[in-house]
This record gives sequence, structure tokens and C-alpha cells, in this order.
Amino acid sequence: MSVKDILDKEDFSKENLITLLQSSGEDRLLLFTRSGKIKADNIGNKVWFRGLIEFSNVCGKDCLYCGIRKGNKNLTRYNLSDEEIIEAAKFAWKNRYGSIALQSGELESPDFTERVEKLLNKIKELSRGELGITLSVGEQKPEVYKRWFDAGAHRYLLRVEATNEKLYNKIHPLNSKHSFRKRMDCLKSLQDTGYQTGTGVMIGLPYQTLDDLAGDLLFMKDFNIDMCGMGPYIEHADTPLIEVKETLLPLQERFDLTLKMIAIIRIMMKDINIVAATALQAIDPIGREKAVKIGANIIMPNITPGKYRDSYKLYDNKPCTDDSAEDCQSCLEARVSLADCDVVYGEWGDSKHYENRRQASGYRLQENPDA
Ligand code: 5AD
Ligand code: FES
Repeated sequence: MSVKDILDKEDFSKENLITLLQSSGEDRLLLFTRSGKIKADNIGNKVWFRGLIEFSNVCGKDCLYCGIRKGNKNLTRYNLSDEEIIEAAKFAWKNRYGSIALQSGELESPDFTERVEKLLNKIKELSRGELGITLSVGEQKPEVYKRWFDAGAHRYLLRVEATNEKLYNKIHPLNSKHSFRKRMDCLKSLQDTGYQTGTGVMIGLPYQTLDDLAGDLLFMKDFNIDMCGMGPYIEHADTPLIEVKETLLPLQERFDLTLKMIAIIRIMMKDINIVAATALQAIDPIGREKAVKIGANIIMPNITPGKYRDSYKLYDNKPCTDDSAEDCQSCLEARVSLADCDVVYGEWGDSKHYENRRQASGYRLQENPDA
């Protein structure tokens, strides 16, 4: 079936998705034009900021691709003080970012649970409830997710990384700390708790096929995600997967596949929030703007205090590690307007998909103050 015919269908089969992922020339442009139009019609030409605070690079896990994995000894570990985190949140609030995202390596402990809970309370208090808060601190017990939800976090990002269990097991150590089943259970638990739930995968991983990527797209639709964060895989010299570097697609192809994945998920899920991942910019200087043009509507400017940024290197060539929060804001604003979009200030910018789910569920889920 031709790309044009596929794009006119309501639902895509796995074969259709593979055809779209393989598209080139005119067909590829057709895909991007369609996804850009769907974004404009359903979301508008808008972008919302989530001020990203990478508050600690201490991680208890050992994912084979990740630069901050526990086993990487070539790295200075840091942990921001509560005051530094609060200052960064204040910066976001004063600059009318609607939301922040708190991200760190993965730790599970009563102390960590309590620390995050207290931070959530403080941030809600200082911003008089105005700052929306996304958490991205990995796999936790259902009761922990619930405590943080009750303390004011309302969105959670947990990338599944790969939905084919066999592939998942090739990029993680084979032990109970890195279980595919647990990851899936966590995603379900987040959704059941009432979070706007976000997930996504890395694109261009070693061993990954187009069939896998098509499966990832079908999973996200079937799981009914509210938010999507996907980025290209970029090898890191101090990780085990560097050994299979020769088998990878060229960076430019990983970049292009990521754009196609974003365009396709926008067509499949018209009202979700889609992040223009920072990793896109590690490959193409205007990578994030390209993603915004074809479907993404969220950018996460880094507001981590500058001295720590160099140590949160998930992958090589991570951009913006020398900038300050102010630099990031003005740079990103100019960039977003290059993509003919406007940054929306002072709004949470919640996933419309979540709102639609909430209405369908008889308003059991959490209310969106922008609606
Ligand atoms: N390349 C690209 N993305 C990576 N991440 C971790 N390591 C890499 C890498 N080498 C992504 C994972 C994780 C997110 C925080 O960063 O998808 O969920
Ligand atoms: Fe930290 Fe994977 S290495 S969660």
C-alpha cells in the first residue's frame, strides 16, 4: 500500500507502520506534512516548557546504554541540596514556566521517598500551587507513586525503552533489578494512580529492528499513554554497549527515524503531549525545532544549576551543558519561533488526551487547571 493510502486510514497495521518508517523523498515529506497539520489542528502552533531539574546522577541501576549507570566509575556523582532544587523551581516559577520536571538516577529507599515528597510539598507551597510538576525518577512501589501523587506530582515519565522483551533484555543486565515485567507493572501502576503517564523508547538501539519500532508505536497507542518522550540512542564511551558501536545505524539515520516515530505517533494519538527530546540536538543543532515542526509540543529547558550539568551525561555530546538557565530560555525561545511556534507561559500545558480520558472516566482523574 502507498504512503498516501496508508495516511488516509484510521488505524495502522504493523506493516503500514514499517512502510511509513521506511518512507523517503516525497513520501517522507507527505508524512511530515500530515503530522504537522494534525498538530496544528489539535494542539495549535504552541510549545510548553517544562523546566528540567536533574537533581542527582546517583543511580542504583546498571542499564547497559546509560552514562550514569552505577557501574560507571568515570563520573563525579552529585546530589543537589534541597535549597538548590527549590531555587531552580523558583526560577521556573518566576519566569512563568508552567511546569517543572524533576529527574534523577533511580533510587528506591524510604529516605528518597520522603525527600521527594517533602520537595513536592515545598514546591507546591512556594508557587502557590501554580507550578505543574512532572516526576521522572524511575521504578517505585505503587504506594510510593501514590504518596507523590498526593503531594502534588501529577505527571510521570517512565520510558519503557523497548517494548520487545527480547530487545529489552539485550540492553539491560539480566537480573531482578532490570525486569521488563516490573517496568510494565510500574507503568500500569502510574496510570492507575491517576498520573498523566508518559513513556517512550530510544531509537536506533543496537539489535533494534523496524518491526520493534512499529511494535513500540502500537504499544503506546494500546496502552493509551498521555505523553510521549522518544529520542535517538546515542552511544556513551563508558558503557558496555559501546562494544557493539559498529553495528549501529549512522547518527543521521537514527535522527531521521526519530523524527518519523514522532510524526507517526502524532498521527496515531492526536491529543497527547510529545516531547522534543534534547538528544535530538546532540545530532542536529536544530533537531528539537525540527521535531516541534512535525508534531512535538513540549520542550524541557535545562534549569539544573550549571556546575552539575556536565555530570548528567546519559550519552556523549549532550548539548547545553555549558549554559545557564537564563541562556537556555532565550536560546529556546528563539529556536521555537524558528519552527513557527510560540512558547506558552503560565500554563501547565497538560495532555489533552488525559483530559479526554478523565471525562470518559466520569472525572475520577485529576483536574487540569488550564482547561
Ligand atoms: N542515548 C540516548 N538516550 C539515553 N537515555 C539513557 N541513556 C541514553 C543514551 N545512551 C535516555 C533513556 C532514559 C532517559 C532519561 O534518557 O531513555 O529513560
Ligand atoms: Fe540508571 Fe538505568 S542506569 S536507571
